Amino acid sequence: MSGDANLLFLSIIVQDMDQFRQYEQVEAIRNRIPALSRTVYGKPLVYLDNAATAQKPDVVIERVDAMNRGVNGNIHRAVHRLSEETTLWYEQARDQVRDFIGAAAREEVIFTSGTTAAINTVAYAWCTQFLKAGDAVLVTEAEHHSNIVPWQLACQRAGATLRVLPVDDKGQWQMDVLETLLDERVKLVAAAHISNVLGLVNPVQALIDAAHRVGACVLIDGAQGIVHAPVDVQALDCDFYVFSGHKLYAETGTGILYGKRVWLEQMPPFLGGGDMVDTVTFEKTTYAPLPLKFEAGTGNFIGAASLAPAIDFAREMMGGQFEENQLEISAYLKEEFSKIDGLRVYGEGEHKIPLFSFSVEGCNHGDIATLLDKLGIAVRSGLMCCEPLITRFGHTGLVRASFAPYNTLAEAAVLVQGLHRVLRMLRG
Ligand SMILES: Cc1ncc(COP(=O)(O)O)c(C=O)c1O
Repeated sequence: MSGDANLLFLSIIVQDMDQFRQYEQVEAIRNRIPALSRTVYGKPLVYLDNAATAQKPDVVIERVDAMNRGVNGNIHRAVHRLSEETTLWYEQARDQVRDFIGAAAREEVIFTSGTTAAINTVAYAWCTQFLKAGDAVLVTEAEHHSNIVPWQLACQRAGATLRVLPVDDKGQWQMDVLETLLDERVKLVAAAHISNVLGLVNPVQALIDAAHRVGACVLIDGAQGIVHAPVDVQALDCDFYVFSGHKLYAETGTGILYGKRVWLEQMPPFLGGGDMVDTVTFEKTTYAPLPLKFEAGTGNFIGAASLAPAIDFAREMMGGQFEENQLEISAYLKEEFSKIDGLRVYGEGEHKIPLFSFSVEGCNHGDIATLLDKLGIAVRSGLMCCEPLITRFGHTGLVRASFAPYNTLAEAAVLVQGLHRVLRMLRG
């Protein structure tokens, strides 16, 4: 189904479309994302699982395709033309990431396979060097498993302990408790810029400043933050900032570890292998300079190169109509959800992205998501890799609708109508 046909179909489902303002820039960008015009079960896809993975625009698909068709030589290794061209596109993407996040130097930008791999790199390499028995690592109660488990493993290896900053009933960090948890034993603090369950933009600047006052190093999990908030790692003064390519419209299996050079230089390598070495003998190996010291083996170099067009695309969707559109979606859903009996949204705060995780009294999250899917509406359900947080709210799972800048108010209306229909079915 073409983009226009999809729009027509939506207007049939959602009566009185005129009440929903349309933004021509949003509509135009949608036409550049092929997946958005597909159907599921004969219905137009309403894709609201963007926090899990975003759909890819033509520019990313074309870059990957062009590379697979003719710009595919293993990077950094050979003198032949293909290797040279591939290396150029890979390294250009690094420069673009550096510029996008405001890093001081390209050597501070490491390609990884994603957020999880980036966190594990720090949890292994930084903690091997700096975390000792009796020390502590501090995380928050609202972290993704990827920002909990690597630290648990590191603490077990070092004989350190994991401390947890709790959230309140709104899902906000309990900053008044922070002072009691932060002391000189805490060597590293790891926290999400934006929660993938609550959608709250966390007060990371206050956390970074407080952590630095006790001499702790800070890693910000930017898996959601990089998509929805402007990021300037130097202004933030975080020690590490990590994110995944696939949530930022780039190829899957790509990600970034930003680290201050002062730390990266002192950290031992995480993985050993090709490209991360300088000289190798059986007696001793010396390592390549940054950033290659942390890029062992053949990574997803074509995927990494796709970060360049993906960032251009992300920039096109910042501010202006896209921002207005998202504010309208949030206001509309807040209002509509408040009218549904027994529905509770988790994550209340002034700074919240259009991401809504909710429970409905008497209905199972999995059932809601399964029935919505049959209406063509893709949402996430379950623990969302945040079991401690969801347990804290007394649930075994929630339903989550997460919007990207390319989603429309009409799609939000389809969700609301779909939800009413599903709840009528489930409640009998
Ligand atoms: C906040 C947060 N952290 C970490 C991750 C893990 O990302 P990945 O699976 O791409 O490594 C996610 C993915 O949903 C996330 O939302």
